[in-house]
Amino acid sequence: MCGIIGYAGQRPAVPVVMEGLHRLEYRGYDSAGVAYVRRQGIGVLRAQGKLMALEEKLASESAVSMCAMGHTRWATHGAPSERNAHPHTSNDAAFVLVHNGIIENYQEIKAALTAKGYVFHSETDTEVLVNLIAEYAKTEPDALHAFAAALREARGAYAVCLMARDEPGVIYAARMSAPLILGLGTGENFVASDIPAFLPYTRQVVFLDDGDIVRLSASGHDILRLEDLSSVVRAPQTIQWDMQAAQKGGYRHFMLKEIFEQPRVLADGLSGRVLDGDVLLTELDALPVPRKLHIVACGTSWHSALWGRYLLEHWAKVATQVEIASEFRYRQTLLLEKDDLVLVISQSGETADTLAALRVAKEHGAQTLGLCNVLGSSIARESQAVLYTQAGPEISVASTKAMCSQMLMLALMALYWGRRKGCLATEERRAIIADLEKLPIVLEQALPAMQHKARELSRKYAQARNFFYLGRGHCYPLALEGALKLKELSYIHAEGYAAGEMKHGPIALIDPVFPAFVLALNDSMLPKVVSNMEEVQARQGKVIALTNAGVKVQAEDVWIIPDMPGFLSGFAALPALQLFSYETADYLGKDVDQPRNLAKSVTVE
Ligand code: AGP
Repeated sequence: MCGIIGYAGQRPAVPVVMEGLHRLEYRGYDSAGVAYVRRQGIGVLRAQGKLMALEEKLASESAVSMCAMGHTRWATHGAPSERNAHPHTSNDAAFVLVHNGIIENYQEIKAALTAKGYVFHSETDTEVLVNLIAEYAKTEPDALHAFAAALREARGAYAVCLMARDEPGVIYAARMSAPLILGLGTGENFVASDIPAFLPYTRQVVFLDDGDIVRLSASGHDILRLEDLSSVVRAPQTIQWDMQAAQKGGYRHFMLKEIFEQPRVLADGLSGRVLDGDVLLTELDALPVPRKLHIVACGTSWHSALWGRYLLEHWAKVATQVEIASEFRYRQTLLLEKDDLVLVISQSGETADTLAALRVAKEHGAQTLGLCNVLGSSIARESQAVLYTQAGPEISVASTKAMCSQMLMLALMALYWGRRKGCLATEERRAIIADLEKLPIVLEQALPAMQHKARELSRKYAQARNFFYLGRGHCYPLALEGALKLKELSYIHAEGYAAGEMKHGPIALIDPVFPAFVLALNDSMLPKVVSNMEEVQARQGKVIALTNAGVKVQAEDVWIIPDMPGFLSGFAALPALQLFSYETADYLGKDVDQPRNLAKSVTVE
C-alpha cells in the first residue's frame, strides 16, 4: 500500500505535493519521491527513508513548478532504497510514473522490453510499466493512447499517475483495484490515493472506478474508460470529514479500519500466488521441503504460528514445533538439526526476541525463512529467504490484519509443500484454493453484521473483570488471540485455554461473573466443545458461543458467523474476536489505537 498524489494548478506544486505526502505517510513510509514539470523536461527527486530525507534533498533544489506528483512507498517489489523509490522514468525520459499496487505480469513484460534493449535500474514492477508506456508511444498517436495500451497489457492492481515530457501541465491517472480519487478545486485539480492528501484545498471529490483513466490539468479533467477511451461523467461529492477522520478513511480508529481491510488483505495476499488451482511461492522453490519445521514468534504472530501448525501438519505432513521467541532464544536448541527449517514470523520484522531467535537458529546451522510485513526489515534482511504478507502498514498497536495475512501465507505454504511432497491430493488442493478465493467476498459481506453483533455483546459483557476464551484444535490458537485482544485493548483479564483443559483445574474459577467465549464452530471438534460448554454452564458460567448456522448449541448468547470449510473457518472467527475486543474497549473509553504500556514494535527485550 503506497500513497500517491498529483497536482496541477496555480500554486507552487512541489510544496502542495510534499504536504499531501505527509498526510499519506500512514500508507507507507520507507522511501519517497517527487516529479515536477520544469523548463527542460521533468525533474525527479527521490530519497530512501521518511519524507524528511526527501525534504532535505529538495532544500537544495529549485523545484519551482505548477504541476507535480509524488509518492510515498510501502515496498512490495524491491527493498526500500533510492533506486527503487518512485517516481520511475522511462529510458527515453519521455515518461515519469508513480504507482500503488502490484503488476502481476511484470516479469514477462520486463523480459520482452529487455529483449528490445530497454535497461532497468530498479527491481520494481513500476519501472517496467513506465517503459511499456514508452514502447507503446512509438506506435500510438499520443500519450493517452500509449498509456491505455500499456494498462490493457498489464495485469494486477494499480493506481497510477503519469507525466509526459511533451505534455507539461497534464497528469494522466488510472485505477484498477487500488484507490484513486480526484480533488476538484478552482483553477487547480488533484488526484491522490486518499482524501487527506488534498483535503485542506478542496472538499469536492470524485471517486474513480476500476477501469477509469483521467486526463487532469489546472483547468479541468476528463474521465475515460480504459477499454475504449469513451468519455464518462462521475458526479463530485462533498466530503464532511475532518483531517484525522479522513486518514482513518472515516473509521473511528485505525484498528477498525484495519479489521475492515482484511478482505483486501486476503485478495492482495492471493494475488499472484494462486493460479489454475495451484500455489506459486517462488521464494520457496530453492528451499527443500523441511524435514522438521520450527516456527518462532511473539504475541499475535505466535498465535498465527500455532494456528498454522494444524494446516502444515495436516496438508503437508511437515512435523512442526512452535516456540515463543523469548523462550527459544535461551534454550539449548539441541533439537535443531542441519536440514531443519526455522520460520520466524514478525509483522514489523523488528521484534527483538524474534530477531535474536533468528540469529540463534543461524548459529546452529538451521535454514531460516522470514514471514514479514515490512520489506527490508531486520528479520527480512537476515533470513535466508523471506515471504511478505503484503498487508500494507498496520498502524494500530493491536495486530489485526497482520494475523489474517500471516494465516493466509501459512495456509499457502501448507498447500505448496503438500503439493511438493505429493501428500495432498490435487482435487483436495484445488477445492481448498477455490474456497480461499471466496474468502474476500464472504468476509466483505459479513463484517458489518459482525460489528453490529460485537457491539451488542460488548455492552452486555463490558463490566466483566475476567473472561475465558475456549477452543479446540485450530480454534485453540484463535481463543488465545481473542483473549490477547481483549486484555490488551480493554484491560479486562482474559485467558485463552484449550477447551479440553478446563476440567484439569481452571474450571474452579467459573462463576456467574466469569463468562466464557467459546469457539463452537461446525467442525469435527464440535461435540467435544459442546460438552466443555456444558461443564461451564453447569457451574452457572455464562457462555458466548461463536458458531455457525444450523449448529444446535444452548448458550447465554449465540453468535452466528459464516461457515467456511475446515481450517478456513478461522478466517471468519478471527474478525469476530477482533471486533468484540474493539467494541468492548471503545465502549469502555479506552485508547484503542495506542493501549497503555504497549508499543507497535517491541524492539527491546
Ligand atoms: C498484538 O496485538 C500485539 N501488538 C503484539 O503481541 C505483537 O503481535 C507482537 O509484539 C509481535 O509483533 P511482530 O509480529 O511485529 O513481531
